[in-house]
Amino acid sequence: MLSFRSLLTSLCLGVALSAGTLPCVAAPEGDPSSLDAPTVLVTGANRGLGLEFARQYAAKGWQVIATSRNPEESYDLNKLADQYQKIAVEQVDVADPASVAALTARLNGRPIDVLVNNAGYFGDPADAQLGQIDFTRWDAYYRVNALGPLLMAEALLPNLLAGQQKKVLALTSRAGAFSYNTDAQAPKLPGHYFYGGSKAALNLMFVTLANDTRRQGLTVAVLSPGQVDTRGVGTTGPHIVPIEKSIAGLISVIDGLTLADGGSFRNWDGAAIDW
Ligand SMILES: NC(=O)c1ccc[n+]([C@@H]2O[C@H](COP(=O)([O-])OP(=O)(O)OC[C@H]3O[C@@H](n4cnc5c(N)ncnc54)[C@H](OP(=O)(O)O)[C@@H]3O)[C@@H](O)[C@H]2O)c1
Repeated sequence: MLSFRSLLTSLCLGVALSAGTLPCVAAPEGDPSSLDAPTVLVTGANRGLGLEFARQYAAKGWQVIATSRNPEESYDLNKLADQYQKIAVEQVDVADPASVAALTARLNGRPIDVLVNNAGYFGDPADAQLGQIDFTRWDAYYRVNALGPLLMAEALLPNLLAGQQKKVLALTSRAGAFSYNTDAQAPKLPGHYFYGGSKAALNLMFVTLANDTRRQGLTVAVLSPGQVDTRGVGTTGPHIVPIEKSIAGLISVIDGLTLADGGSFRNWDGAAIDW
């Protein structure tokens, strides 16, 4: 099949020959700014793991659509976008259907190879301590962690089907895995009803999404980044994964995913995680 660059070159040559002008020059092979570079869209790219995803994908030469709820206040992301011209900063609130629809309209059918639903809401464990559970808070977790990724995937389905790689990922957590929660040895934080519950809902909905879209060639999976100190609280220990290592691992996992891996739950180091 003709690559987009080859197609462009042929079109340029055709136009140039019929117009009697010099042929236009396509981007050189291997140029990371080439139009053939794959495109990734990352949500919540203004800080934490999302910002590191944007940084590492841009360094790999990908076109990066880096989204944030408040682009004007996304200082670190804007600085990164100044450094890498292939980063385009876009606004979206994944919990707001109107905002997702507006982003979809702005993208105007642009092909997307990989959608990384990274945005998440950890909230405050104080919201859900047994005996004092604030049931009005559940919605905030569920809308961002569970419904947001589904909303994004549904809205961007045409863009993903137009892309080459057709991959949809969501950052989940072991807190949403039954295997982890039923493991007597695993350390637990009390009060994770809402965070863990919303990630468990995400996991199930993404398996359903994988089943629904497999025939269209979409690979859908959920990924755990490990425990990464993105809030700068200075937590240390052998269980803490450095952010660069976690994201490099996740990108390598995403690169290696095939359609047969649809509906899987992977750790940042590639290990399969039991649901
Ligand atoms: N760090 C860990 O150890 C760990 C472990 C397991 C899973 N995860 C998951 O990995 C993902 C990233 O984690 P992180 O540690 O980087 O989180 P983080 O530092 O808390 O950053 C969360 C990101 O999500 C964005 N976000 C929140 N609500 C949003 C909304 N409604 N629309 C769009 N963006 C929204 C935030 O934007 P604002 O700046 O506007 O709030 C921010 O960019 C999350 O899904 C998290 O649950 C993290």
